[in-house]
Amino acid sequence: MHGTGSDEKDRIYPREPIPVAERRRVTSTEVPHEGHGGLFSQSWFPIALSSEVPVGAIVGKDFLDGRVVVYRGADGVVRIQSAYCPHIGADLSVGTVVENRVQCAFHRWEYDENGMCVKTGAGLPPPRDACLFTFPAQERFGMIYVFNGTEPLWDLPDFEYADDELVASPFVSELYTCDPWIFASNTPDTQHIAVVHGFRFKANDPSEAINWEEWGFRMKIDAWHQNDEELAWEAGIYGSSIFLQQGLTDGWWMGIAAGFSLPRPGTHHVFLSVLVRNVETEGGKSIAERLEYGRMLLARTAAEDKPILDSIHHRVGYLTKADTALAKYFNFMKKYPRAHPSRDFIN
Ligand code: FES
Ligand SMILES: [Fe+2]
Repeated sequence: MHGTGSDEKDRIYPREPIPVAERRRVTSTEVPHEGHGGLFSQSWFPIALSSEVPVGAIVGKDFLDGRVVVYRGADGVVRIQSAYCPHIGADLSVGTVVENRVQCAFHRWEYDENGMCVKTGAGLPPPRDACLFTFPAQERFGMIYVFNGTEPLWDLPDFEYADDELVASPFVSELYTCDPWIFASNTPDTQHIAVVHGFRFKANDPSEAINWEEWGFRMKIDAWHQNDEELAWEAGIYGSSIFLQQGLTDGWWMGIAAGFSLPRPGTHHVFLSVLVRNVETEGGKSIAERLEYGRMLLARTAAEDKPILDSIHHRVGYLTKADTALAKYFNFMKKYPRAHPSRDFIN
């Protein structure tokens, strides 16, 4: 049942020591960290669970280097706007939702779904330019996502089943103390999938058959997992922050929609949604049993990564042929679009 090449993996290469005076540590041009030069990667970031924002609710969230509000109007649509009122800066998260508008708690100015101030508490016409920054927002798999930009550069990837054929069980991890793209780079790092997570790949390393698209990649993973579950999965990453996985575990289908948030540079939460097909039993397991297995798997996997990611001093150093897919993802991230159009609003 073990993957091929285990003898190779035990091999040791005896070498002459390099004289101390000649020792060097080489690193390549770094992937810019989030916030470097005041810029952030332009990706979809999860920001809240749908359940946190019922109709008429407004919540404040840290995002990038500032603050936003996430609210749901009477029409049921979630909107995400800069948090600070352009009047004199009250945080709108302590305000209220009126129909589909946000009303500031301090002097009752109101902002519509485009962020325009359409009303002042005193009844005077609003200053012409008084407005909030409105982010592209969407809601899927029980999670709310925000795009860092004025227009999304790409859409969230789809599963092989339509969203309404799936049952989702979303939850959020504790805070991780590294940039979201560092967790995202775990997926093309197939060596760590074997070492840290205990996968036994059936044949070749999955990164050898990686399928790159304009905004990310997908790859097949055929392996056995820690309790000898047989996996036939596809896993992928989009942008700096979106992970998608789908496929069969012992013959039944599971999808994972995960995203890495960006509440502040150098930190993230992992938003995780386990998805199973809305059929009573599959592979002899009920919906509740399949969701429970998925949640256990995700919580365990995230816990296995946490001590490494929380303490990593990330440098792209000496890469080998086994890091080919990882190197490609680092290059993708080096060139990835970065901007901060909401800077003046959210700070
Ligand atoms: S600070 Fe918001 S209305 Fe005055
Ligand atoms: Fe990992």
